[in-house]
Amino acid sequence: MAQTYIGYSPDVEVLGEDEERLTAEILEIMASTNRKAFERHRHAVRDAHAKSHGFLKGELVVPELPEHLRQGLFARPATYSVVIRLSSAPGDIHSDTIPAPRGMAIKVIGVEGERLLPDDQGRLLVNIPTLSFGTIGKYRQLIGLLEKNAQNPAFLQRAMAGVARGVEHAVEALGIEPGATLKGLARDNAHLLGETYHSMAAIRFGDYIAKISAAPLSDNVRALTGKDVGAVEDATMRDLVVEHFREQGAEYQLRAQLCTDLEKMPVEDAAVLWPEDLSPHQPIATLRIPPQDAYSPARRVYGDDVLSFNPWHGIREHQPLGSIMRVRIAAYERSARYRHEMNAQPRVEPASIDAIPD
Ligand code: HEM
Repeated sequence: MAQTYIGYSPDVEVLGEDEERLTAEILEIMASTNRKAFERHRHAVRDAHAKSHGFLKGELVVPELPEHLRQGLFARPATYSVVIRLSSAPGDIHSDTIPAPRGMAIKVIGVEGERLLPDDQGRLLVNIPTLSFGTIGKYRQLIGLLEKNAQNPAFLQRAMAGVARGVEHAVEALGIEPGATLKGLARDNAHLLGETYHSMAAIRFGDYIAKISAAPLSDNVRALTGKDVGAVEDATMRDLVVEHFREQGAEYQLRAQLCTDLEKMPVEDAAVLWPEDLSPHQPIATLRIPPQDAYSPARRVYGDDVLSFNPWHGIREHQPLGSIMRVRIAAYERSARYRHEMNAQPRVEPASIDAIPD
């Protein structure tokens, strides 16, 4: 089977002519909306995924894998400490009554290997398999659209969820297919612990190329998949997480979908869903999360203000790939630098799991 997987080489990435200019424009717009959010809150929040719903300590258990999956972090059986931040996608703190995609950021502590940036492993996943705005050019269009509607974020979020059809038409007018991202926004009331979270874009998987996802594994979180949570209030998502982990733990399966065809499973356009019949999601590790206080005051401050998660915090064998991933290098750095500076917080990486407050 291994011979059918596309081997990684640097030329699977194709740099666009315009990338430098588009990156500068995207950063500028994001910085300006981020400064406005600071002025409103008098506290700096993330440029994206500003609202947290829970912080979890757990373990990533890598078993003995079939040979083709023994790559990078997954090369040999091991158990790593992880810290997870659950969030909603917008770069401002809105009520949970407003639909939003959810995010799961995973930091793996104590990974050895050559670093892309001098830090630990970051995995950033969201509960939608593709990014409609899957290239840097389309992302620039999205950011422009968001900026125009920045004064009315609640309207924009609702509109994107399909409640009002106007923005969907505006998106089409911009030449962007309203794909999985917009459809995903409509699933806002599903329980966030029952969702499957995706990297959306590709990463290097040692000798190969893959998209990564985390799917509910233990019965208790599988039972939450697609479960409507009923009436939603401002902080319902946080309450659901806290309530669950007060008594129970959870397990998620980390999976890799290896690229078998660069045409049908492109690296440069994250809007294309990699077909499962061409390559299934193969289990690579288990995330084990014990019962705990998922939102103590000390943990919230540490997780929101001290920690930063970044897909480029990782080892060379798992380098993020494609234009949407390349623009993230500067975007995450700018956002983290600004909020650490404005909140007067140290920019440190946890050397061990004990650094995360209970
Ligand atoms: C490939 C698709 C993407 C996924 C799956 C993704 C996912 C996430 C997640 C889960 C977080 C929350 C991290 C945390 O909890 O600390 C996050 C934060 C963030 N994202 Fe993305 N993202 C994607 C693409 C992008 C792009 C294209 C940009 C901008 C060019 C971007 C900019 C940001 C920024 C600035 C932050 C906040 C960083 C910080 O202040 O620490 N993301 N993203």
